[in-house]
Amino acid sequence: MSELRERTTADVDTVIGWVPDAAALYRFAGPRLTWPLTAQQMHDSAAAEGATAWVMDVEQRLVGHAQLTRCGDAVRLGRVLIDPTQRGRGLGRRLVASAVERARQQGAVRVDLSVLADNPAARRIYATLGFTPAPVQEASDMIAMTRNL
Ligand SMILES: CC(C)(COP(=O)(O)OP(=O)(O)OC[C@H]1O[C@@H](n2cnc3c(N)ncnc32)[C@H](O)[C@@H]1OP(=O)(O)O)[C@@H](O)C(=O)NCCC(=O)NCCS
Repeated sequence: MSELRERTTADVDTVIGWVPDAAALYRFAGPRLTWPLTAQQMHDSAAAEGATAWVMDVEQRLVGHAQLTRCGDAVRLGRVLIDPTQRGRGLGRRLVASAVERARQQGAVRVDLSVLADNPAARRIYATLGFTPAPVQEASDMIAMTRNL
């Protein structure tokens, strides 16, 4: 069972507060969102066709964010973010595992994602949750990964 709940408008400012600068924004969202990150950008991103935005609470505290976007029979996982004060406790792995479970509930047969090559923590999570490199052309600093469900 997925631990995620649908993101609400009230969650957005908290999530924006976890992104302190342009470099952190790039790590979180790649090139599509621009600094300074605004609530409008977050809403527009989640309003894209097939997109749904999710958050994770632990002990009633908002700690994580992810977005799932349906693309045919696959789901694209993106916008993965953990509250900087809560990192290194296994929450990122819990969030990604829950997002994969949610994608399965949505009927997807595969989860795709892109990760910065220079993001060892995220890459470790994806690799240990069964994602493998995908033969997809990416920007030179990014790696595409995929997992069948
Ligand atoms: C990436 C992110 C989600 C990880 O969240 P987290 O809660 O700290 O992650 P976890 O504690 O679940 O796990 C981190 C794993 O990476 C490992 N790790 C951390 N830093 C590492 C490093 N420099 N090199 C190798 N592994 C590293 C940890 O050891 C842990 O693996 P383990 O449990 O097998 O020991 C979080 O750092 C974050 O929000 N970063 C900014 C946004 C981002 O990068 N999003 C991903 C976009 S693709």
